[in-house]
Amino acid sequence: MNISVVGTGYVGLVTGVCLAEIGHHVTCVDVDEAKIAMLQQGKSPIYEPGLEELMKSNLQKRNLVFQRYKDTSYESVEVIYISVGTPQQHDGTADLSYIFQAAEDIAYKITQPAIIVTKSTVPIGTNRKIKKIIKSKTSIPVDVVSNPEFLREGSAIQDTFRGDRIVIGADHPEAASVIEDLNRPFGIPVFKTDIESAEMIKYGSNAFLATKISFINEIANICEKVGADIEDVAKGMGMDQRIGNQFLKAGIGYGGSCFPKDTKALVQIAGNVEHEFHLLKSVIEVNNQQQRLLVEKAKERFGNLKGLRVAMLGLAFKPNTDDMREAASIVIAEELVREGAHVVAYDLIAIENARHVLPMEVEFKNSIEEAITGASAAFILTEWDEIKNFPLNEYKEIMKTPIIFDGRNCYSIGDVEISGIEYFSIGRKSINHNMKVPSK
Ligand code: UDX
Repeated sequence: MNISVVGTGYVGLVTGVCLAEIGHHVTCVDVDEAKIAMLQQGKSPIYEPGLEELMKSNLQKRNLVFQRYKDTSYESVEVIYISVGTPQQHDGTADLSYIFQAAEDIAYKITQPAIIVTKSTVPIGTNRKIKKIIKSKTSIPVDVVSNPEFLREGSAIQDTFRGDRIVIGADHPEAASVIEDLNRPFGIPVFKTDIESAEMIKYGSNAFLATKISFINEIANICEKVGADIEDVAKGMGMDQRIGNQFLKAGIGYGGSCFPKDTKALVQIAGNVEHEFHLLKSVIEVNNQQQRLLVEKAKERFGNLKGLRVAMLGLAFKPNTDDMREAASIVIAEELVREGAHVVAYDLIAIENARHVLPMEVEFKNSIEEAITGASAAFILTEWDEIKNFPLNEYKEIMKTPIIFDGRNCYSIGDVEISGIEYFSIGRKSINHNMKVPSK
């Protein structure tokens, strides 16, 4: 099929590349001309395992074309995906201006009937507005379909080819069938429903997953106080298939481009229909507190953090991505700087993006070793393999005082006990917490 994808952000780019991979002819368009030039060279602007390889091979096969927005025509295009950003506004609601702009542009440029597929996460009712905008500007018949994405950064390609379901929300079964057929090569179960339900499935799913994370983080905080171990507790809970073992990893809270934004947006969506979403508000509140937990632990340990050299290991909101959006490291760096600590930061991939969002006082280093040299405390913030596999004895050798605050429970309690390192983690007992407070 001839498909256009409007917007080459995370979702649009992965969607376009994967649709090309299953044999469609895909044109990806974007207003950002520098980005399009880069994509035309086969270079991905985001770090996503496997993406660049697929991009290059489909560019070569000529299944995939990147085009500047201003050069775009939708001539002989049968399906147009909208995957532009829906950034969060100050009040938590989603900014839909890019969506509506894309809809208008489509209306002006289409030359034949088309199906418009919305991939962007949009508040309930938005697809209907898109349809209205297009219909008000052209007499060419269009159908609008909601087809939310469920990609996780870092495993987006795998998620596209091995996802649990493809949700298709449509007014007309014919339009739903076209999108179902188009996706058939992925071999993933399709769930067809109405437009509003499809829109809600996306928000409901992300809100539920965020709830699981805040829930397990609360349990972790109680575990610490009652002497239980969250790793075992989560494992034991997750063995119940009704609960499931995923998204029960306690840590320093969720970040990223979706959960923080979508939970706040859903609170607003509920508020708009006079429903106060108490539970989700608490989920957000718990997450805000959880992001500050390591700093609280450090303050308790050191009294105050003034002049303390603190290494931050891992900055991205999760491993295998360079994305810093809503990363806990931002909140933690700001708090540490405010407390007067000297912050030294390292991440395998996200350093360049981190430079733009971390406080200017933060010093960046090129390796774990460099970051922890002479440090009095190390904060582990992202569970990159490199960090999980970093030998404990090196902290002991290189740091001024080997004290670790592990926000991702990267090390086993047994290993840390043997190492003699002072260690604080999430939902587990603190280890070797009997050393003298070091002089700064
Ligand atoms: C998420 C959803 O998983 C995906 O379906 C949706 O389409 C987009 O949002 P993503 O933000 O890429 O994907 O990452 P995800 O793996 O879900 O992790 C989000 C955050 O939650 C990360 O900060 C991660 O560290 C945290 N997390 C995740 C936990 O703290 N514990 C867990 O058990 C799982």
